[in-house]
Order: sequence, then C-alpha cells, then structure tokens
Amino acid sequence: MTQDEMKQAVARAARDYVADRLPLGAILGVGTGSTANFFIDEIAGIKERIGGTVASSEATARRLAGHGLRVLDLNDIDAMGIYVDGADEIDGGMAMVKGGGGALTREKIVAAVAGTFVCICDASKRVQTLGRYPLPVEVIPMACAHVSRELVKLGGAPKRREGMVTDNGNLILDVHGLSITDPAGLETEINQIVGVVTNGLFARRGADVLLLATADGVQTCMR
Ligand code: A5P
Repeated sequence: MTQDEMKQAVARAARDYVADRLPLGAILGVGTGSTANFFIDEIAGIKERIGGTVASSEATARRLAGHGLRVLDLNDIDAMGIYVDGADEIDGGMAMVKGGGGALTREKIVAAVAGTFVCICDASKRVQTLGRYPLPVEVIPMACAHVSRELVKLGGAPKRREGMVTDNGNLILDVHGLSITDPAGLETEINQIVGVVTNGLFARRGADVLLLATADGVQTCMR
C-alpha cells in the first residue's frame, strides 16, 4: 500500500466515523493537510448530514466550499461535536506534533472548541517520542530573532521556514533537534516566550481518537 492509499483509507474510515457519530445537521471541524484533503473529498459524499463546517485554514475553507459544503465562522457557532485532522507525529499518549502545513494556530483554536478530536494518519506518523519531526512555532514577525534565541536555550535548533507566511500574517520557526519527553510541559514553556503565537505541540489538548492506517487496515485507538 502506498502512503497515499493509506491516507485515502483513513479518510474513508473518518468519513464513516463522522456519518455514524455526528448528530444530523451538526457542525464538523476540518483540519489541514494532505490527509485532511482526502477526508474533505470523502465527506462531500455525506454533505447532506453535515449542518456546517469550520475550517482550520483558508486552503481547507476553499476546498470545503468547492465541494458545496457550508463553511462557518467559528465565532458564529456554540459547539462543535467532532474535529478531524492529520498530524505530523503522534505518540502513545495521543500527544501530537502538528503544523507541517503551517496551520497550527487555527488548528489549535478549532480543536479547543471540539468535543472530540479525531486524528487521522498513516502508520509513519506513530512515534515513541515526539521531536524527530521539527516542531513548528508560529511567531509574530518582529519577535523572530528573540524567539529563536529562547528556543536555542531550550535545546532546539530553530530554522525559519522560507517563503512561509501563515493565514494570520506570521512566520514559522521549525525547531530541530528536540527529544520531547514531556510534551505538555514543553508546550506550555514555549507558549510563555513573548512573541510566540502558538506551537505545534498538541499535548494539553491531544487527540481523543486515533484512526491509524496500516498495511493491515485502519486501526482505531482511544485516549
Ligand atoms: C497542518 O498545519 C498540519 O498540522 C497537518 O495536520 C499535518 O502537517 C499533517 O499533514 P499531512 O496530512 O499532509 O501529512
């Protein structure tokens, strides 16, 4: 099975999860990235069940709208049952590194509102310890050098992502060389650095459900 076939398989499983569990006409949160894109294409087939969607990026909003799915402003809704999104890494405690696509801040905001976070990924994303994938940190542009120096003090090697401006008009630092044994602690610590908007650790609010595509099929793991 290719990686794309695994992404397709997990996207279908997530569509079925949503069709079974999202109350008719309820709001669905939708993530960003290539796996999320497969998922968006799948839910086009069940759009009559979905009252509306909230997108975690402009790219996702465009794709959802392109399929005729209603895209709502997060400020106009009171509750969201399910949020479905990919990840760059996920550990055994359901903590994740996200933000490979640069949408981490909006992803974290949408995830904070959702009742259930469903992470969809292929087996290559499952790790023992987070940090092999560089940790994205969204930064206010004028604070980039200051935040970089602070991240070095935490043992990381930050590198500005060239050509990247987020949907919020900010920059991304990708922090290499971290071995993240306390994801919730590091998430909090990095967020305390002045100039950081947010970081790509999703540990304080990790996934509730993991749909993991493997060569033997899609496995379901619960927190
Ligand atoms: C987007 O900013 C990310 O958080 C994605 O969820 C993550 O990078 C996974 O993307 P893929 O599904 O493309 O691997």
